[in-house]
Order: sequence, then structure tokens, then C-alpha cells
Amino acid sequence: MSPDYPPRVELARTPTPLYLLQRFSSELGGPRIWVKRDDLTGFGLSGNKVRKLEFCLAEALAQGCDTLLTCGGVQSNHCRATAVAARQLGLDVHLVLRTDEAPSRDGNLFIDQLLGASISYISKARYAAGTGTIYQRLIDDYASRGHKVYPMPVGASDEVGLWGYIAASEELQGDFSRLGIAPQHIVCATGSGGTQGGLTLGAKLFGLAARVWGVAVCDDAAYFEQKIGADIEAWRARYHYECGENPDSIDTNVSIATIDGYVGPGYGRATAEVFELITRLARLEGLLLDPIYTGKAFHGMVEEIRSGQRFEGADDIVFIHTGGFFASYAQRQHFELSDGTLAD
Ligand SMILES: Cc1ncc(COP(=O)(O)O)c(C=O)c1O
Repeated sequence: MSPDYPPRVELARTPTPLYLLQRFSSELGGPRIWVKRDDLTGFGLSGNKVRKLEFCLAEALAQGCDTLLTCGGVQSNHCRATAVAARQLGLDVHLVLRTDEAPSRDGNLFIDQLLGASISYISKARYAAGTGTIYQRLIDDYASRGHKVYPMPVGASDEVGLWGYIAASEELQGDFSRLGIAPQHIVCATGSGGTQGGLTLGAKLFGLAARVWGVAVCDDAAYFEQKIGADIEAWRARYHYECGENPDSIDTNVSIATIDGYVGPGYGRATAEVFELITRLARLEGLLLDPIYTGKAFHGMVEEIRSGQRFEGADDIVFIHTGGFFASYAQRQHFELSDGTLAD
């Protein structure tokens, strides 16, 4: 049963392609690995966040807001996508970016600056203590100058943003029936939980046979259980969905499945194996992953397949490519690559 979608602005180029990684799957010798190319939702406006922003920005426009406010790491894909979307809709944008180092104009930050986003940098410690007071100060400051701010949490992961990957699940349902497949698992990187949460709910709503797994790129399974659980509760309360006790209602009872243990040295930092896997996939399939989200999650998925753990017996697994390549530019020094030679 399809839910009633709230208003949405069209930002993402969808449907995105879903196809088999033929050479990688045979090299792996396990299940067939499919990739859903959500890195192709646009160029500047690329990646998973675009699907969420369609719903969040519709709400911002309905509320008469003229400025978007959001936050994330200094190389945040979400902040960059928000800045592009703001400019496409003729809005202003203010980003609160977390960093302890002098920011270097590279990757996503370069795009943020090119778009003329207003930026406030904050330390990691201050960010961890919460962005509430900083947000309030900015909202008041914009209001005093006659502007109305639409604040969004990190990753646009809240009850509104959840709709992005609920809608993507409907798209996957169409993909699966067109391709004649019924994958047992769907895997994505999880950072603020909105993609995993939306897919988990969406898989239930659209009756997908697949189990949804988020591979943690920060925090742990307990954190995502709590965070996604709270977002889903807020979604149920706001859009008046029941928990499935009422037979006429949409059943939204879900269990949240997170794979942790692959965060490595920390958020934004990856092991040599991740950089090697990214390089391998680039050369084998022409697929470009990043070391912060998709490379780490893909690595976690492959390790789980190899160890015969969670994906034992699976025929088909879908990996959601959530984008994020721009941030790789700021980590280029960690790739072992050879330079060309001077032609004679
Ligand atoms: C490229 C990429 N993949 C995955 C994620 C994780 O998505 P979510 O924040 O919805 O958990 C992010 C979040 O910033 C991202 O930028």
C-alpha cells in the first residue's frame, strides 16, 4: 500500500540506474552485487541528500522561508547539495561546518564557496555539544534582517527527510520488477541515519523482500537504533501512521539493521584497504566511490560476504551508491597512484 506523499519539489534526476557489477561479482565469487546509482541524481546536486531535500525544501517554501540553514563536516556532501539546491530555487544558504583545522578550499567546500554560501566554522568539541544555540543565534540574526530561516539537522535526517528514501524504495520496487530480481539485501552507508531509516520503512511499505542494512561510517549500531527509531516515531506522529495494530493501517513496524565495526580510524578517515578497494572498483567497473561513506560501506559489505556472516546464501545484494565523490579530492594523498610519464 502506497503512502500519501507530502509536497515535494523536483530536484533529483530519477529514476537512477540500477545494474549488475558483473566483473566485480565474478571476482568476488559470491552473490551478484547490484549498484543503485544515486550518485547520479545530479552533478552539483548529486547523491542521496537530493532525494531528502525534495521534501524538506517543499516544506521550506510552504513556510515562506528564504534562507536554508544546515550543518555537517567541513567536507559535507549534504551541505554542498543544500547550497546547490538553495541557489537553484533562488534562496540564500548558511552552513555551519565542523572542523578543527584551517579549512582548505577543496572538494565540497570549494563548491560551497563558489555558490556563495555563508559559512560559520565550529570546532568538533563545540559541534558535539550541540548546534542548538548556534542555530538559534543565526535564526534570530536573519530574522532581525527580515529573513526567514528553514533549519535542517545534519544530513536532513528527520521525519521529513525520511520521505526521500521511502520514495526511493518505491523506485527500487519498479527496478526489481523490471529486472526480474528479488534481492535479499539492500546495503547503504549510514551516517545520520536518514537513508537507512527511509529505506527500512520503504522496504516495509512497498513489500520488498530485501532486508536493509546500514554500514556505520561513524557511531555504532546502538546509536542508529536509537536515532532512526526516534525519526520513525516522529514520522509516525506527524503523518499519522500507526504501528500496524490496526489492520486497516499501514504497518510501519520495522527492525533497524546496522553493521558496525567498519568505522576504522574514525569518521572521515579510512584504512589502506578502503583506498585499495576504491581503486580496484574504479579500474574494474569504472565505479567511483569515496573514502568517507561509500568506499567504507562497500568494504564492510564485502568483508561480511567474505566472512560468511550476515549475507550467507544470498543471490542478489543491492548496494546504494549514495554519492560523495567530491570529498575524495581532499583525500587524494591517500591513494597509491602512479603518475604518467613525459611523452618523447
Ligand atoms: C555520500 C554519502 N553517503 C551516505 C551518507 C549517509 O547518509 P545518511 O546521513 O542519510 O545516513 C552521506 C551523509 O552525509 C553521504 O554524504
